[in-house]
Amino acid sequence: MIITPQLAGNVARSCHPIGCQQALQAQIDYVRAQGAITTPKRVLILGASSGFGLAARVALAFGGGADTYGVSFERGPSEKGVGSAGWYNNCYFRQAAEAAGLQAANTIGDAFSPKVQEKVIADLKADFGQIDMVIYSLATGRRDIPATGESFRSVLKTTGAPVEGNTINLEAQALEWTSIPTATSEEITHTTKVMGGEGWQEWIEALLAADLLAPGAQTLAFSYLGPELSAPVYRFGTIGVAKEHLHATANHLNEQLQQTVGGIAYPVVAKALVTKASVFIPVMSVYLALLMKQMKANGTHEGCIEQCYRLFATKGAGQQPVLDEDRQLRLDDYELAPSLQAEIAKIYPTINGDNFKALTDFDGYLHDFMALNGFDLAGVDYSAEVDMTEMAALKP
Ligand code: NAD
Ligand code: NA
Repeated sequence: MIITPQLAGNVARSCHPIGCQQALQAQIDYVRAQGAITTPKRVLILGASSGFGLAARVALAFGGGADTYGVSFERGPSEKGVGSAGWYNNCYFRQAAEAAGLQAANTIGDAFSPKVQEKVIADLKADFGQIDMVIYSLATGRRDIPATGESFRSVLKTTGAPVEGNTINLEAQALEWTSIPTATSEEITHTTKVMGGEGWQEWIEALLAADLLAPGAQTLAFSYLGPELSAPVYRFGTIGVAKEHLHATANHLNEQLQQTVGGIAYPVVAKALVTKASVFIPVMSVYLALLMKQMKANGTHEGCIEQCYRLFATKGAGQQPVLDEDRQLRLDDYELAPSLQAEIAKIYPTINGDNFKALTDFDGYLHDFMALNGFDLAGVDYSAEVDMTEMAALKP
């Protein structure tokens, strides 16, 4: 079949498997071109199929020769559609890692589910042994707790006064005036249940109980803080409250790991990037498209793979992590450079529906989104048939 992009608002309804393979290969090529790095050798990645989790996995495997076990929530091909980009990322990652002589395993399922956790722990015991590093990189809107029947949904709202601003609608390629209401206390609690540190804590405790963490094991979770400009939406938004909980969990886990395996836990504060998850955050998109333009202009632009390579190559993750006074590893140093933020703060208020394509890197933003789903990549023949029988035979 011939696969074309299908956008509904900011959601991609199709993906191109060959494009996904090529985008993954570009990440692998980037890491190989940078050169070998010292990384942990056996790594569990929760949220391994896209964004930061996938880029970390590529940097670890192809930079440091790590064996990796990935957990993610993705869809394979069926009568309903071609499946999700993350599905193909998993399949092609495993192929490439195995071709390089590395172990690579995937479990597709809900990382919050005790059944999935039990399966992963059994697999690790059977095939991997003790783990040197656990990466927590889930981005989701929902967490179900089977034991109690509870189901939590996260919301992207503010905790202060309602905020108004422009958001990019990718389908319409237009700005949309959006207002972000104030969350109720229940919505804040629910968002924290989903995107805070509880899931991370459960995993580390389960791995400790199963004696699956190696001496000196490290665990990190991806996080974001952002500048003053986005604070009403991000830092003082429901997601920001959840991230605060995640950071508090890091400190708690750090003590627990110190006392048990002599290990360490910390959050990694990354830069804002286009991922499947981030395009949903209202108002952030205009800031992000402007940030991309300014960072490309001053030569500091990075994608997920550049960030994750730098994480292990120069920020000591997995070895001696370079942490700030709040025990956070900062990968947002270039984004938060004061001169850059001053420039952004000047331009941001002048952006409107007529000039946003010129004032921001809208084209780059749209390209990055399409590329997440395997589209808009040079070198992929989009007029060629994709053999879905072949695709259905791929295994994550
Ligand atoms: P993403 O959507 O690309 O990746 C999310 C991953 O989580 C995918 O592998 C997905 O399959 C997996 N997942 C979702 N729900 C799951 C579930 N129930 N069980 C198992 N796996 C599940 O998102 P991302 O942007 O890479 O986000 C990862 C982390 O990085 C998040 O904590 C996010 O807040 C953080 N972060 C993102 C940005 C950004 O700008 N995108 C910046 C800094 C930090
Ligand atoms: Na991820």
